[in-house]
Amino acid sequence: AAWYSWWEKQGFFKPETENPNPRGIFMMCIPPPNVTGSLHLGHALTNAIQDCLTRWHRMRGETSLWNPGCDHAGIATQVVVEKKLMRERGMSRHELGRENFIQEVWKWKNEKGDRIYHQLKKLGSSLDWDRACFTMDSKLSYAVQEAFIRMHDEGVIYRSKRLVNWSCTLNSAISDIEVDKKELTGRTLLPVPGYKEKVEFGVLVSFAYKVDGSDEEVIVATTRIETMLGDTAVAVHPADPRYQHLKGKMVLHPFCDRKMPIVFDDFVDMNFGTGAVKITPAHDHNDYEVGERHNLTFINILDENGLLINVPPPFLGMKRFEARKAVLQSLKDRGLFKEIKDNPMVVPVCSRSKDIVEPLLKPQWYVNCTDMGKQAADAVRDGSLKIIPDHHLKTWFNWMDNIRDWCISRQLWWGHRIPAYFVTVSDPSDMDGHYWVSGRSEEEAREKAAKRFNVSVDKITLRQDEDVLDTWFSSGIFPFSIFGWPNETQDLNVFYPGTLLETGHDILFFWVARMVMMGLKLTGKLPFKEVYLHAVVRDAHGRKMSKSLGNVIDPLDVITGISLEGLHAQLTDSNLDPLEVEKAKQGQKSDYPNGIPECGTDALRFALCAYTSQGRDINLDVNRILGYRHFCNKLWNAVKFAMKTLGDNFVPLEKESVSDRWILSRLSAAVGLCDAGFKAYDFPGITTAIYNFWLYELCDVYLVRIFEKHWANLTLYTCLEVGLRLLSPLMPFVTEELYQRLPRRQPQRDPPSICVTSYPDTEEFCWHSEEVDRDMEFIMTVVKTIRSLRADYNLTKTRADCEMATTS
Ligand SMILES: *[C@@H]1O[C@H](CO)[C@@H](O)[C@H](O)[C@H]1NC(C)=O
Ligand SMILES: *[C@@H]1O[C@H](CO)[C@@H](O)[C@H](O)[C@H]1NC(C)=O
Ligand SMILES: *[C@@H]1O[C@H](CO)[C@@H](O)[C@H](O)[C@H]1NC(C)=O
Ligand SMILES: *[C@@H]1O[C@H](CO)[C@@H](O)[C@H](O)[C@H]1NC(C)=O
Repeated sequence: AAWYSWWEKQGFFKPETENPNPRGIFMMCIPPPNVTGSLHLGHALTNAIQDCLTRWHRMRGETSLWNPGCDHAGIATQVVVEKKLMRERGMSRHELGRENFIQEVWKWKNEKGDRIYHQLKKLGSSLDWDRACFTMDSKLSYAVQEAFIRMHDEGVIYRSKRLVNWSCTLNSAISDIEVDKKELTGRTLLPVPGYKEKVEFGVLVSFAYKVDGSDEEVIVATTRIETMLGDTAVAVHPADPRYQHLKGKMVLHPFCDRKMPIVFDDFVDMNFGTGAVKITPAHDHNDYEVGERHNLTFINILDENGLLINVPPPFLGMKRFEARKAVLQSLKDRGLFKEIKDNPMVVPVCSRSKDIVEPLLKPQWYVNCTDMGKQAADAVRDGSLKIIPDHHLKTWFNWMDNIRDWCISRQLWWGHRIPAYFVTVSDPSDMDGHYWVSGRSEEEAREKAAKRFNVSVDKITLRQDEDVLDTWFSSGIFPFSIFGWPNETQDLNVFYPGTLLETGHDILFFWVARMVMMGLKLTGKLPFKEVYLHAVVRDAHGRKMSKSLGNVIDPLDVITGISLEGLHAQLTDSNLDPLEVEKAKQGQKSDYPNGIPECGTDALRFALCAYTSQGRDINLDVNRILGYRHFCNKLWNAVKFAMKTLGDNFVPLEKESVSDRWILSRLSAAVGLCDAGFKAYDFPGITTAIYNFWLYELCDVYLVRIFEKHWANLTLYTCLEVGLRLLSPLMPFVTEELYQRLPRRQPQRDPPSICVTSYPDTEEFCWHSEEVDRDMEFIMTVVKTIRSLRADYNLTKTRADCEMATTS
């Protein structure tokens, strides 16, 4: 592990920007982990792959930059600091005030925020740490502001009052893709944050509205009965014969003094239920559109915490799911309730807070994605952007071709405050002057507004939007904000656009799509040429890793090892409830009866790469990682043994003798396979080639059977040295340790570290000969046959003569 700080101090991870290497430039930015985050297997996988690729490019002589960074993670960080504040000082953020709260967050960040960086170093990641960027740094914030202002001035960012996905727990809007769709097959009780008892979902309640001035009833049905308090109409199909006589009629709301029109709209499905539908324009996406079409009243019945407003007592101020029960009871009391039945349905759940998402009418900022989405789709269609593996293309096109505008307002305090100001003009001649302008500062916004309304600046009153931007907005410009965009910096010239983006396929839309769209929009260039998406890591049984199953593997535990008791203790520290802790303990006991053995970073990295075959999920088995630790031991012993044989005074000469053609042929074949593997992102191809060469060819055959007879010392040396270089991107630590012990060809000129040697390439190692391989294979078969014959006839202890007859 000590090599890491030496590598860093020597500047091996720094790209040479003054004289970029003519072999090309490799640039990749890290998917910035959350500042609140701690290392999990997802990071370990991403970093194993990305580091291995970066090291490979670097060893090929390209000017290579892997840029680190960290995300301010709006919601997650705010929640962490809020909890800390409550725990330590018994205060809410509102009691502290916005300015002070933000200072608290910075304080927390400065104390705790670099933990994840230290953990990434443990994985051996060859990142250029001097370039580490935090999305709230002034450089990146400046870029965020610029991006917003340019897109707002252009009309790509606009303000609109629409139904947003509201999380009452977060007190914030969330984007469409942060909403999980939970499918229910019928009546289901679900836990909801803030409620002691589970809440009923998946049922359809029918009830009646009385028609004004008659005894007739119109029966409607809903899965969210509490929303009837916000109903302002009933809709039927224009051609429905059952309702023709109700044209122009009204129905009466049972709980408030409200007459509601019966509207005729062909969105209604005549064949569903009674063919009559209740309309709640302010709380349902379909009803919203009906409300727009028929000029209905929009009554908002929920406040930001999910309490009922604008409704009559006793419902006023109730929590929304308590109102669900109360409304049902009141309908029963008035004889308006008809029936309740199971109803398969989809419930929208907030992926962050697990609260049930409520559609709420709010003015928010949106990014118009129509043109950008089309450009992003075209870039993939015309081949200028490659997505690997290509089975993700279908999802990419599906999403891009049906893209919806992106709501970027978040009602949080921690994040980039939206640089937009609400303008009021105190000019008697323009009574109606109000508008939004954006600006880098209040002064700039004021001047902009004065110009737009053609008044002097002193007539302008401004109020900055209270909201902050969706965290993905700043992540979306990460590939160029880290280089000082919009300024024309040298870094931007050299390193933008980047080469590759590597990440999990689960954030293809959250992040990759946004980077592509915003890169094209703001820089006119694709931010990278290729996107490589890796699969999800699961446990050995193929189950998703989750705390409550007890199957979560902490990469640091794999590196250093941990006892079963140690694993149990981690559960006790988590915030699982006692029942779940017990279940998780059982899970740990059956999966890791003896805890997790110490495997080391190299074995973990090698295992993760070996598992990463395109497309398939990764079912990680700790025993397999342990197997690669044994491989490290084997490597160690082989080199030790070889060095002893070579002796202290061995000096490798410049030129090889090609006496041992077979092992050199196998080495060349391994070089070829690694080269092809790296180029095709075929990581198991690489690990298999290296593993087979070291273990089955060099150790099992060459070292123990051939070498002793031949003393082809130089050949042996070449195998060791080249074999280590092949392996170095995957197992940087053990290969460095062993490389440092090998004698050098030219001690003065040879690179000081294996991580800056050249990667063995197929031009240099072109001794692969199929003929030699075949001959050797034949000899091996003979040896194997003799051995098994001796075993079969119990001759292992006896000296036996062998004769071989060939038949033709
Ligand atoms: C809704 O109102 C607008 C203007 O106020 C009017 O032009 C339109 O005809 C109305 N639509 C309906 C369906 O009443
Ligand atoms: C978004 O952009 C498209 C294409 O430029 C335009 O047709 C559409 O009206 C815009 N949408 C909004 C809501 O401004
Ligand atoms: C970009 O230019 C602005 C204006 O000249 C300057 O204030 C800012 O510090 C520069 N930022 C970077 C990262 O160079
Ligand atoms: C190889 O090394 C062995 C052990 O040091 C030595 O006896 C032998 O002469 C060497 N052979 C060559 C070809 O250098």
